[in-house]
Amino acid sequence: MENVIFTRRSIRRFEQKPVEEEKLERILKAGMQAPSAHNLQPWEFMVVTDREKREALSKMSPWAGMVANAPVAIIVVGYQKNPDVMKFLPQDLGACTQNILLQIAYEGLGGCWMGFYPDEQRTENVRQYFNMPADRIPFSVIALGYSQDENRFIDRSDMSRVHYNNW
Ligand SMILES: Cc1cc2nc3c(=O)[nH]c(=O)nc-3n(C[C@H](O)[C@H](O)[C@H](O)COP(=O)(O)O)c2cc1C
Repeated sequence: MENVIFTRRSIRRFEQKPVEEEKLERILKAGMQAPSAHNLQPWEFMVVTDREKREALSKMSPWAGMVANAPVAIIVVGYQKNPDVMKFLPQDLGACTQNILLQIAYEGLGGCWMGFYPDEQRTENVRQYFNMPADRIPFSVIALGYSQDENRFIDRSDMSRVHYNNW
């Protein structure tokens, strides 16, 4: 039970200490290592360290306040030219976002996933503020940094939810 899949929790309070560049790079690379439908890898990333921009981003969702106090925010951005495979985009970007969260934990940092897509107002606000092209989809925002929160393990396993061979 020691690996980061089991120990990761959402972290919403951060130390005012910068995240090392090499850690941030490994975190982004972990996102790019995710599985995706047809292996299309339909992701791009916006790294936001600028304080003023983080403050603005923190106001673009009612649940994103922690972005103002996190040293870094990563916006996972979707882009898919082929409308036939567009339908898998949320799954691809969800896998990408989770990979990022797990690598954050592996690096000894804390992070929190904030849902932006499919809320139209939130995604439009982000797109406009960061000058993204209209065909880009700001999917999720991840706040990250050195944690000030307690990272308490909760056992959520419930084997009664598992069905074997027949419902
Ligand atoms: C799609 C998605 C959207 C989320 N959006 C937010 C959010 O906007 N703000 C926030 O504080 N937490 C957000 N969370 C984090 C959840 O609240 C958190 O994962 C859940 O309470 C379980 O706690 P844990 O991550 O510590 O295990 C989101 C998580 C997911 C998967």
